[in-house]
Amino acid sequence: MLASLLRAAAVAALVETAVGGIVPRNTTDSFGAASRGKSVLDWSDAAKLQPATYQGASYGCKCYVGQSCWPSSSKWRQLNQTVDGALQVHTPPGAVCHNTFAGPLGTVNTYDAAACADAQANFASEAWTVEKPGAAIWTYFTNETCRPTANPADACTLGYYGIYVIMATSQEHIKAGIDFARRNNIRLIVRNTGHDFIGRSTGYGSLIINTHSFKSVKWLDSYTGPGSYRGTAVTIGAGVQGGEILAQGHALYPPLAVVTGECATVGIAGGFIQGGGHGPWTTLKGMSVDNVLAFDVITAAGDYLTVNAQQNADLFWALKGGGPASFAVILSVTMKTFPDLASSGATLYVNGTALWVDSLDVFHKWSNHFVDNGLYVYYEMMPFTLRARPFVGIGKTMAELQTVLQPFLDELTARGVPFEFAIKSYPTFFDLYHDLFEAEKAADTALTGGWLFNHDDMASRRSEIVAAFQTVIFPRQDLVGIMIGHLFNPGYSVPVADAATHPAWRNATDFVIAVLPVPATASLAVKADLQNVLTNTIDAALRGASRSGATYVNEANPYQADWQSHFWGTSYPRLKELRGKWDPLGIFYAVATPGTEAWEVIEDGTRLCKKL
Ligand SMILES: Cc1cc2nc3c(=O)[nH]c(=O)nc-3n(C[C@H](O)[C@H](O)[C@H](O)COP(=O)(O)OP(=O)(O)OC[C@H]3O[C@@H](n4cnc5c(N)ncnc54)[C@H](O)[C@@H]3O)c2cc1C
Ligand SMILES: *[C@@H]1O[C@H](CO)[C@@H](O)[C@H](O)[C@H]1NC(C)=O
Ligand SMILES: *[C@@H]1O[C@H](CO)[C@@H](O)[C@H](O)[C@H]1NC(C)=O
Ligand SMILES: *[C@@H]1O[C@H](CO)[C@@H](O)[C@H](O)[C@H]1NC(C)=O
Ligand SMILES: *[C@@H]1O[C@H](CO)[C@@H](O)[C@H](O)[C@H]1NC(C)=O
Ligand SMILES: *[C@@H]1O[C@H](CO)[C@@H](O)[C@H](O)[C@H]1NC(C)=O
Repeated sequence: MLASLLRAAAVAALVETAVGGIVPRNTTDSFGAASRGKSVLDWSDAAKLQPATYQGASYGCKCYVGQSCWPSSSKWRQLNQTVDGALQVHTPPGAVCHNTFAGPLGTVNTYDAAACADAQANFASEAWTVEKPGAAIWTYFTNETCRPTANPADACTLGYYGIYVIMATSQEHIKAGIDFARRNNIRLIVRNTGHDFIGRSTGYGSLIINTHSFKSVKWLDSYTGPGSYRGTAVTIGAGVQGGEILAQGHALYPPLAVVTGECATVGIAGGFIQGGGHGPWTTLKGMSVDNVLAFDVITAAGDYLTVNAQQNADLFWALKGGGPASFAVILSVTMKTFPDLASSGATLYVNGTALWVDSLDVFHKWSNHFVDNGLYVYYEMMPFTLRARPFVGIGKTMAELQTVLQPFLDELTARGVPFEFAIKSYPTFFDLYHDLFEAEKAADTALTGGWLFNHDDMASRRSEIVAAFQTVIFPRQDLVGIMIGHLFNPGYSVPVADAATHPAWRNATDFVIAVLPVPATASLAVKADLQNVLTNTIDAALRGASRSGATYVNEANPYQADWQSHFWGTSYPRLKELRGKWDPLGIFYAVATPGTEAWEVIEDGTRLCKKL
């Protein structure tokens, strides 16, 4: 039995008994009343939005500290009791380097020399940041108001972080947080790993639910749920990270794999899967959502549901790529697993040469060929530099991978481009993953955009694409950007998907992320200028060079016109309708997700309001 070979310590009990759609619960809510008996999609206990006027327009807003609608301290105490003491006042991770943290609940002394040394040493570490209750890895959207400092007299304020955080260890804690937010009109944020590029796991004045401790993993020898699939599967708790599940799968005999992201610290069952999820297995196995069999969730109305092809099938579809923090809070996801395979990998560096544009041209000339031969490639571009690390050939011998790459290498040589190339074989993909993928950094202050290029783009518009990539690197005389690219085609083995993801993924070749650094001390005017460069220079160049019409909700600029069609294409109208069914009141919110057209963060990134 696979399951007996490896059983992960279950930090949190997941809904394992759920079989009948709605699981009856007998929990006590934050007001002390039993929630049993409340029907599904019952919004009768929701608090109303607060009226506001901003720039001459009328809004209904979430409730913020200082307003009479803000829950009394006894209500917060009750919430804390309901969550078994797991409610904390959220303090920014850099506060320990400052004498005081002047938060919305008052000013407190925070300086701690040892903790500050730790924060300074680790602020750029992904692993360290993930462990913090509400910290963001890409810090731009925290508003950078409390970074670690050598000068303790520097001010530290909350910026765009949440006020309170529930360090949830049971599904009842998550439900209590959702119910409290709904009944008190508080902005709600779910925070898993904090990887989000565009600040969707942080939010000014919010109540955060932290799901990091949901580490339960259950390997299934044979899936027995709805549908014809009877192969191996795994049920993954909301807090499990990509590297963890790959390591646990590797420890099984025979070793199993799952479609995770390329980054070991990104989550699986949180924002990643709700965006679609691409990774090194994607060319061979599709996107992560193409492998989903079921979810266990809690809805905005506070209902526990099992979601699969038969039960709540509309929600099942929407959760598969319809956008994070939009339809339900995911407690766990059940995904297909498959045998890991002997693999080969390669690296290619073109360092500091005026011929780097030639290298981009040749690399992209062969990119359709790479994905059509089953490869995945992760690459980075910086001024005069191309780093393709790694080329991933899952199930390929070194000779087979070399054969795929040889015409590309020959052409680089013929064009006189200097490069360094290495190739290696591995007993499994997992071994390749650990040898060739590199840890990424936290605490980068940057804006991110991105676009999808399909087979047709690559075949017929290469010169426009290469020119657009140069615009990403040199968007303006005083600015330098970087680019991260991924060659994969989710349609290689899953030509049609029953998921909410943009249909354009099915002929993808290259998905790129554009990164534009922003000084941590930038004024609002500088930020507005750089956002304008991102939208109207960088993204405009990428969009103009592509005919896909598509980009990725998790790795793109949310402040662009027509985000609805760019993120979801023909899937959008149904997603908007389903948002109206599953979260009509906007208990959940993330920028540029289905049905949020009327919602806005007003007053320079602070209050979340709905235009009336
Ligand atoms: C270094 C790095 C590498 C990356 N590599 C890849 C990659 O290879 N492939 C890929 O597809 N993406 C990749 N991403 C992007 C990734 O998909 C997004 O950052 C994603 O939002 C991360 O989800 P999370 O749950 O880990 O992060 P979080 O920041 O904690 O959450 C992201 C969003 O999901 C919501 N959310 C979190 N948990 C839940 C839950 N249980 N239920 C409902 N909503 C929830 C949050 O509210 C937020 O809106 C990468 C990002 C980084 C920073
Ligand atoms: C459910 O809660 C009620 C109190 O509201 C209690 O009397 C009853 O024993 C509980 N049932 C279970 C199965 O826990
Ligand atoms: C919640 O309760 C715990 C345990 O009693 C306590 O340590 C914590 O400070 C409380 N949280 C808040 C916000 O008061
Ligand atoms: C956010 O940062 C800007 C500077 O870019 C500052 O003017 C503004 O006051 C900050 N707002 C909050 C709530 O921190
Ligand atoms: C080229 O860059 C890679 C890392 O990006 C490095 O490992 C390699 O040593 C560099 N080669 C030269 C000749 O500088
Ligand atoms: C994918 O692109 C290729 C090349 O342009 C084209 O021949 C093929 O029909 C496309 N497939 C789909 C499913 O769009």
